[in-house]
Amino acid sequence: MIFSIYGYADNGRALFQYCKSRNVRNCYYYDFDAVRSRTEEIASVLSPSFKVLFSLKSNSNPQLAEYIARETPFGADVSSASELDLACSSGFNPSDVFFVGPGKSLEELLLAVEKGVGGVIVESLTELKILDWLGKEQNKKIEVLLRVNPSYEIRGVRMAMGGVTQFGMDEETVMKTFLDGAKNYPNIEFAGVHIYVGTRILKAEDAVWNIAQVLNFVKMLDEKGIKCKKADVGGGLGIPYYDDESPLDISLFKELLHEYLASYPESIKRSCMFYLEAGRYIVGPVGCFIARVDSVIQIENCQEIEVEATPALHALSEGSILTRNKFFVGSTLCEDGWKQGEKSTDIFYKLNGRRLRWPSRVKCAALKKGEYIVFLNSGAYGPATSPVWKNLEGYPLELAGSKGLISEIRAQMTWKDLANEQLFFAISQ
Ligand SMILES: Cc1ncc(COP(=O)(O)O)c(C=O)c1O
Repeated sequence: MIFSIYGYADNGRALFQYCKSRNVRNCYYYDFDAVRSRTEEIASVLSPSFKVLFSLKSNSNPQLAEYIARETPFGADVSSASELDLACSSGFNPSDVFFVGPGKSLEELLLAVEKGVGGVIVESLTELKILDWLGKEQNKKIEVLLRVNPSYEIRGVRMAMGGVTQFGMDEETVMKTFLDGAKNYPNIEFAGVHIYVGTRILKAEDAVWNIAQVLNFVKMLDEKGIKCKKADVGGGLGIPYYDDESPLDISLFKELLHEYLASYPESIKRSCMFYLEAGRYIVGPVGCFIARVDSVIQIENCQEIEVEATPALHALSEGSILTRNKFFVGSTLCEDGWKQGEKSTDIFYKLNGRRLRWPSRVKCAALKKGEYIVFLNSGAYGPATSPVWKNLEGYPLELAGSKGLISEIRAQMTWKDLANEQLFFAISQ
């Protein structure tokens, strides 16, 4: 798998040399050539019916965001003021940015209105009231999509955001709000609906089923005279993390989606823009976490290694009760670049004088001291969700590669970088 994802094999050799010469103990690496091919593939699968929104929460590296904003036709979905700032400063057109998520603050809503985002995803009537008031204050109509928490059957999600949750409003409330909207919320333009039921979907049939339910809902609204000009179908496309998971069959996904769309009313297709949100599916497979091997013991088809990193830097492989002891999708990085193999690898690390075992294991090639173990599919929710300050390891170094060249796209931040300003301030008082 690694060679299809990391299409430009030279990047592997260059990365090893870069890390060796700079004594890199561990880091996140993103292959920008792979970002290009991955985004082109997704765009072609969804074209021409859907616009893709890159979910910035999956990876907030500004260089990566800038690259996606510059090189692709994608918009972005954001769920905080900081992500909105990042989207705008990275070059995403605000009209292609959706602000989603429950519990937005007044300041966040105000920022969204001032920036002129393409849609505020409204998750509650309270939020709608505040936006209506902001619209009046600012003397403009605010474009919103109502987030529906649907009652229909949801399929295949491994992380759910539907059902009894804080996300969105029930179908009945949404319908009523649409119908009475002009009267009750004069400063709101009701652009359409948003449904995001969950993520980590790995079966094409399930992904298309969920999308079809959203579009069926849009069709039902249309039949009742409620016309949407924007419909966000969520997404939730998954990637495999463990060796018992298979990648989403993207050709089948394309075939089934276009088969469904072929019988969808032309009038809605012409007047309504469809959006699909994707984070991990875009950047997950183009990134990996690598950790240098400090010592190795080989035992037939297994090996035991000790690495210069702790699981706190890689929450995805830290595992939960369910994933513990599964084999995380792995590989190795050595002088010759990426190398694959089938050795069951138990990983250890040192922390506060103790030798501890990494919760997830990896299948990879035989390793030598000084080479790197690679946790694949780690480009999404890597640094962003890892408790990187837990052992005061700090925010990890992030590297990018393209056409055989490696660049640093975020320096490692140590605990001193975090603490210095505050300590000196306190001491100088
Ligand atoms: C509303 C919404 N959009 C997009 C995403 C991104 O999901 P993923 O990275 O799995 O594509 C999430 C994830 O939690 C979400 O809640």
